[in-house]
Amino acid sequence: MTQFNDTELTAAVIDSFAKTPDPRAKFLLRELVKSLHDYVRKTDLTFDEWLYAIDFLTRTGQKCSPIRQEFILLSDVLGVSMLVDAVNHRERDGATETTVLGPFYVGEHAPMPSGADISPGLQGERMFVQSRVTDLAGQPLAGVTVDIWHADDDGFYDSQKEAYATEGPSSRARFITDADGRLYFRTILPCSYPIPTDGPVGEMILQTGRHPMRPAHVHFLVDAPGYEPLVTHVFMGGDKYLDSDVVFGVKDELIATIEARNDGAMPDGQPSNGPWHLLTYNFRMKPGQGTAPQPMMPENKEA
Ligand code: BEZ
Ligand code: FE
Repeated sequence: MTQFNDTELTAAVIDSFAKTPDPRAKFLLRELVKSLHDYVRKTDLTFDEWLYAIDFLTRTGQKCSPIRQEFILLSDVLGVSMLVDAVNHRERDGATETTVLGPFYVGEHAPMPSGADISPGLQGERMFVQSRVTDLAGQPLAGVTVDIWHADDDGFYDSQKEAYATEGPSSRARFITDADGRLYFRTILPCSYPIPTDGPVGEMILQTGRHPMRPAHVHFLVDAPGYEPLVTHVFMGGDKYLDSDVVFGVKDELIATIEARNDGAMPDGQPSNGPWHLLTYNFRMKPGQGTAPQPMMPENKEA
């Protein structure tokens, strides 16, 4: 057949992929064509709207660079990233919930000793973070690698600043759990922050009356041999954006109560200089395999 009505066209395009050697690729292409064609039919998409979409996607691609991934940001704000996370983590069996990796993971670091200050010299309210990594039965997991990163008091990650190249990491570190599965460190209270709005994704967010904010959080990547790598955040309880995270990444279980403290000593016995906050959060790991995610952009890695 050389001429198709609009439903025959869908079948013809699906047939055109009939010889795809990889069955999974063939299935994914078939479903993609079905969903795209359904969208066009359901919406009676006009030429102007189709061209607008082409231009939007073109600009999204043009905004990508070795240190910027505008397509992942688009996936994030459309809820696709969290949906991919959800369908891949349907059964948690009591393990800690997962959420998006985000674009500011820059890869491995030399481990720091527990108790280290990962935000020395930064403005902000002081916070002591204590965590324990266990299996599903609550047994401690020792020697586990835990990467941490968070935004500063102005809402920026170190890797977004020019000083990063010369001054190195700040508010990010790697720790290794002790024999009791514990790690602890000093830092500052992170604040809520906007996703980058100087590209087409930000344009869409602002033009549709959405706000670009993420509630304050600390990222954790826990990687224990014999367990699924855990990519998650711990959110600061009370943040005003918890109900409207622009990337839909909040899960109730990941919201921590931050305790305001005034005691003269922190939990490791070291003196505090004034008021501080205590964040306590424990991680339960699910048995399994997997490779911990790498930074989105290899060029974003530290030398
Ligand atoms: C983040 O939490 O770092 C993040 C996640 C998704 C989009 C932008 C930022
Ligand atoms: Fe973040």
